[in-house]
Amino acid sequence: MSECGAMPDTERSERRERLLVEALRGEVPAHVAIIMDGNGRWAESRGLPRWEGHREGAKAVREAVVASLEVGVRQLTLYAFSNENWLRPATEIAALMDLLVEYAASEVEELRERGVRVRVFGDLERLAPEARAAVQRLEAATGAGEKMSLNLAISYGSRSEIARAARRLVEQALAGALRPEEVDAERFARELYTAGWPDPDLLIRTSGEQRVSNFLLWQIAYAELLVTPVLWPDFDQTHFFEAVLEYQRRERRYGRVEV
Ligand code: FPP
Repeated sequence: MSECGAMPDTERSERRERLLVEALRGEVPAHVAIIMDGNGRWAESRGLPRWEGHREGAKAVREAVVASLEVGVRQLTLYAFSNENWLRPATEIAALMDLLVEYAASEVEELRERGVRVRVFGDLERLAPEARAAVQRLEAATGAGEKMSLNLAISYGSRSEIARAARRLVEQALAGALRPEEVDAERFARELYTAGWPDPDLLIRTSGEQRVSNFLLWQIAYAELLVTPVLWPDFDQTHFFEAVLEYQRRERRYGRVEV
């Protein structure tokens, strides 16, 4: 992916339009999932505290939502806070939680107007009551949105999600409501947080790390993986459309066989 940080505004917006038009000509991934990484490095490379990177990262979330709406992505799933993130210093956790609360308050109207439904998934019991209430208010206020779903993974880890699904199935079996032979992949998926959602078609990870970091391990079974060196706070609409174009190139190369 190209870096266009030094481009003048008009040139950047022309380039953005060009990429959007090009992306709209091909098959757009219905579901894009993103591991938003590199906020800390973005801040540190500027001599700023890490929370400044997260704040810029929240602006990039807005870019990704707008880009998704424009290109016709129906589901955008973002890894906003992992189970492992609970191990970070308390001040950084607090800054991330404050950002979530701020985001929920500042974006709710626009998300609702644009027809974006927000869904939050993960172990929300671990959130401070204020943060939990804020994201739940955001879900409730945007619940009627039909254009796109913005799915925020918060206090999320895929292994815990899978273990939770197994536990739920065992409970149903012990209660006599489920026979072991009824458990197959489809039945299992119905116990995940993502029950009923289509699997991601494209998984993007920013900042160059080539890992999946316990994100949607079950759901990304067939996703195209795209790692970009761009740090998350720099990831703008142009980068998003470039990712869609890269997905389309791969689709053409490995296109499904019509039967
Ligand atoms: C990884 O960067 C990113 C996170 C741990 C959190 C992502 C959060 C946001 C983008 C902002 C808030 C989100 C919403 C939905 C409003 P890192 O700190 O691991 O970066 P590093 O690897 O460079 O240290």
